[in-house]
Amino acid sequence: MNLKIISSTDRPNSVSLSVSKYVKTLYEKEGVTPDIISLEDFPLADVQGGLYGKKIPSIEAFRAPILEADGLLFVIPEYNGGFPGILKILIDYLPFPNAFVGLPMAYIGVAAGAFGSLRAVEQFQMVVNYRNGLQFPERVFIQRVNNAFDPKGGLNNEMQQKLLESQTQGFIEFIRTNKINQD
Ligand SMILES: Cc1cc2nc3c(=O)[nH]c(=O)nc-3n(C[C@H](O)[C@H](O)[C@H](O)COP(=O)(O)O)c2cc1C
Repeated sequence: MNLKIISSTDRPNSVSLSVSKYVKTLYEKEGVTPDIISLEDFPLADVQGGLYGKKIPSIEAFRAPILEADGLLFVIPEYNGGFPGILKILIDYLPFPNAFVGLPMAYIGVAAGAFGSLRAVEQFQMVVNYRNGLQFPERVFIQRVNNAFDPKGGLNNEMQQKLLESQTQGFIEFIRTNKINQD
């Protein structure tokens, strides 16, 4: 199974990347080895000036593993009540209209505040909806992430940890079922 975890910010040392690395270990326990794609590595300088629809080698290389994936798990921090701008830029540089059609997608929200990035994830889901992605309904929202998350042990709250593990197992099944239906 070709699963990518997208750490959806370019902020250095982000908690989203740390959560992505931890969640990767949960998938590995289930026998799946996802790769992490960090938007820190998005070649932003190469799209300066609005080069939408142009052939840009660094963008093609960056997006290729995303386009080949069987499923995408987005770890999305909340920035000013929304999802980070770099994530929208990524979407705007994916092929239109086919990039997400029928592609299983799941979400983990990460925020310093009390709403666990609910706003950011739901805003992003509106974009995915428009682009006909196949959205996995079990989402996880990590509020007060600085206290709630330990990079080695996961989520301090037992129920939240169970939700994360349940999302992991459920998303693997969701991707498998979708693959069988497509074959
Ligand atoms: C530009 C910016 C805007 C932010 N806006 C919010 C916000 O609206 N609500 C919130 O709960 N946290 C906000 N935060 C804090 C992030 O939720 C916090 O940094 C958290 O660790 C997740 O982001 P990270 O992956 O960049 O570390 C903001 C952080 C940045 C850098």
